[in-house]
Amino acid sequence: MALTDDDIERLRADTPGVENVSHFNHSKCSLPSKRVLGKIVDHLQREAAIGPSEAGDLATADIEAARDAAAQLLNALPQEIALTGSGSQGWGAAFAALPHLKPGDRLLTSRHEWGGNLSMMKRAAEKAGANVEYVPCREDGTVSPEALATMIDDRVKLVALTWLPANGGLINPVAEIGEVTRAAGVPYFVDAGQALGQIEADVGAIGCDILKGTGRKFLRGPRGTAILYIRKSFLDTLDPVTTDVFSAPWEEGGPKLREDARRFETSEKPVALQIGLGEAIRQALEIGIADIRSRIKAKSEKLRTELSQIAGVTLLDLGGEKSGLVSFSVSRLSATELRKRLARKNINVASIAAAYCPVEMAERGFSEVARASVSYLTTDEEIDRLADAMRTL
Ligand SMILES: Cc1ncc(COP(=O)(O)O)c(C=O)c1O
Repeated sequence: MALTDDDIERLRADTPGVENVSHFNHSKCSLPSKRVLGKIVDHLQREAAIGPSEAGDLATADIEAARDAAAQLLNALPQEIALTGSGSQGWGAAFAALPHLKPGDRLLTSRHEWGGNLSMMKRAAEKAGANVEYVPCREDGTVSPEALATMIDDRVKLVALTWLPANGGLINPVAEIGEVTRAAGVPYFVDAGQALGQIEADVGAIGCDILKGTGRKFLRGPRGTAILYIRKSFLDTLDPVTTDVFSAPWEEGGPKLREDARRFETSEKPVALQIGLGEAIRQALEIGIADIRSRIKAKSEKLRTELSQIAGVTLLDLGGEKSGLVSFSVSRLSATELRKRLARKNINVASIAAAYCPVEMAERGFSEVARASVSYLTTDEEIDRLADAMRTL
């Protein structure tokens, strides 16, 4: 059922931050709810009261409940989920665990790839004498599955796709790319950093082997939490570079690698934050991801319409159907300066540096772009406030 104004009012009443700021930075970090905050603080207080380790022992079921919620979110099995500290950490650990690259091997990605993933691929490729190549885009700016299909050969060791790039509203055809990788039997990594909690993510429908996303963005979970999905049938191709007493405990005279995705977890973990992540995912599932997507779509369309009517503002989003990330430039004002000026009016937007999306930004000649992102919490009044503030700049 679609989200009603009453629903939004109730959800905003449970979000302390909306009293202080008009937040258009959900794609960097969203505003947490009291409900999630309460879970985190409760656990920290328990740690102080009875000892952090002892409180951790009592929280085992809560951590597993967070894993179950993450599995439900992705239509995966709990054994396919690792809880990590950041999305890049999870992606990097899985990438580093792939079989060693050889000279001439090929890593295929798109020009929108997240800068962190690119840096890992580039560094590994350079050391091995392998190559990182970019799959051409269709006219609307999305990655072309047809072009990818023509690039596949037996030297391709990975296809990596950023589903919703950080620098705008583009949505890549993640499942169509998955059809190509599945038919070719090539490992497929999906960066769902901006997707989780914003758009429905079914790993079966996507056909990926690895998918990662973060807690702090559209899921409204705490910073320092992320989800790494590893397809069950793919797990044994991955040999983690680092292990510890949890991921590979010493058994019968030697280390025994865990037989599930937890081989990518560590013994020490931010228990309070992972409990908070579980609560945030449950909250998103209760609201309904499809309804969240509908509301974000409507609000981001309104925001694009408002911005397009302001003199000096140019919308920069590519693609057909767009996400809740709205990118634009303002004539004679840098994105960094815009962000600072709006912050003085308690309006939060982001300036996206070229390093976040280096290939695409260089191709389009941008050193940075302004980004205003909406969530289901965003109201028309907030959009009007942002538009009014922009007019006065
Ligand atoms: C598409 C995408 N991938 C990855 C990241 C980075 O995620 P993390 O900081 O959790 O590594 C971001 C952050 O903005 C992102 O937009």
